[in-house]
Amino acid sequence: MKIAIAADHGGFELKEALKKHYAALNMADLGTFSADSVDYPDYAHLMAQTILKKQADLGILICGTGIGISIAANRHKGIRAALLYSAETARLAKAHNNANVIVFGGRTMSVDEVIKRIDIFLQTSYEGGRHQRRLDKIEETE
Ligand code: RB5
Repeated sequence: MKIAIAADHGGFELKEALKKHYAALNMADLGTFSADSVDYPDYAHLMAQTILKKQADLGILICGTGIGISIAANRHKGIRAALLYSAETARLAKAHNNANVIVFGGRTMSVDEVIKRIDIFLQTSYEGGRHQRRLDKIEETE
């Protein structure tokens, strides 16, 4: 599985920590590449294009809270960006929502919490069935 990661300045440190922890996964880093102030929608849009063009199977997005970058990513048809705010939501974001982008807050979550949530997400399978009907309805209304 190819994983891409991107962050604004509020998520830069967490992005670097995750790249180091998951070095074996060789994540594609879409930026930002320093702690200088940038605009999170730029990274959300870049990630959305990367996923929609199938250049990566899963995206990880990070801003200060994870909220702004989630809102921006979810403006793209076909993107299901989920803010993983607990271990249980990490599991459900895969099992029920089949998220193709997972989102974290660099100023609101610890590195250890985020690693635990990513591990849970990666170990979980999408359940399909009634959940696929619901995902199809999301696409219909866009
Ligand atoms: C940037 O200061 C901050 O607003 C951004 O990282 C994010 O938290 C927005 O939702």
